[in-house]
Amino acid sequence: MPTEAGRHPTEDPDRGTRRDADEAADAPFSERLKRATWSAHEDAEQHGFSRALLEGALPRESYAAMVAQHYFAYAALEEVGRSLAADPVAGRVVHPELFRVPALERDLTALYGADWRERIAPTAPTRAYTERIERTAEDPAGYVAHHYTRYLGDLSGGQFIRRVAERAYGLDQRGGTAFYDFSALGSLPRFKARYRAQLDALELELDAAAREHVVDETRLAYRLNMAVLADLGASFAADAAV
Ligand code: HEM
Repeated sequence: MPTEAGRHPTEDPDRGTRRDADEAADAPFSERLKRATWSAHEDAEQHGFSRALLEGALPRESYAAMVAQHYFAYAALEEVGRSLAADPVAGRVVHPELFRVPALERDLTALYGADWRERIAPTAPTRAYTERIERTAEDPAGYVAHHYTRYLGDLSGGQFIRRVAERAYGLDQRGGTAFYDFSALGSLPRFKARYRAQLDALELELDAAAREHVVDETRLAYRLNMAVLADLGASFAADAAV
């Protein structure tokens, strides 16, 4: 599937030419963050579970299991987000109109039924992920990394996933793919541009070490997401082998 990933030959300055590295050093923070973490993104995008999802080849139960794990991650992200809303660093990215928990509750009702709360539980990788998110209540720059990794992804590749899931499972934004419905934000490109401007403005609050921490925490956030997907993929593969 064509993604914009192929248009980022300079995503990792360590692997690029000297000119790439110089350009990267001058780029705004949002661009540097993206370049420095894009190879982790490619790992996540190319993961077997992601590929099966994008091909519409996942069973509906595996899609539902992913939505269930999202629920626990976003419950943590949004609880910490509320606690940091007035923070000068994290508060720049916290937007209540992004909150996904109400949409996830609608999706889980459509996918599991009204008793969904009794039917879902966090997996071990999801518990590790949510624990890390919870720790960022004391680490606003780290929180920005987790926020960026999830919400900007949902506003980007997530929109492809939405189309595939609607086709593959006969779902819609009233229940099943509400998670990917950001129509309340208006134009997504415009929202993403504003979000990136907020990341760029963090240059004022964060010194070089703190900016590096955001980059490192974003790489960790990708790895934690991959671990969740790998675990879901293992149970999907085990079911398929039966
Ligand atoms: C399922 C496969 C995936 C596909 C097809 C995909 C595709 C994309 C695309 C096309 C973009 C836009 C790139 C651009 O604006 O230049 C993007 C951005 C992004 N994706 Fe993904 N993605 C996938 C999985 C993921 C996962 C699993 C995560 C994290 C958990 C993620 C996080 C992000 C983030 C944070 C961005 C914003 C990058 C930036 O502009 O700074 N993506 N993705």
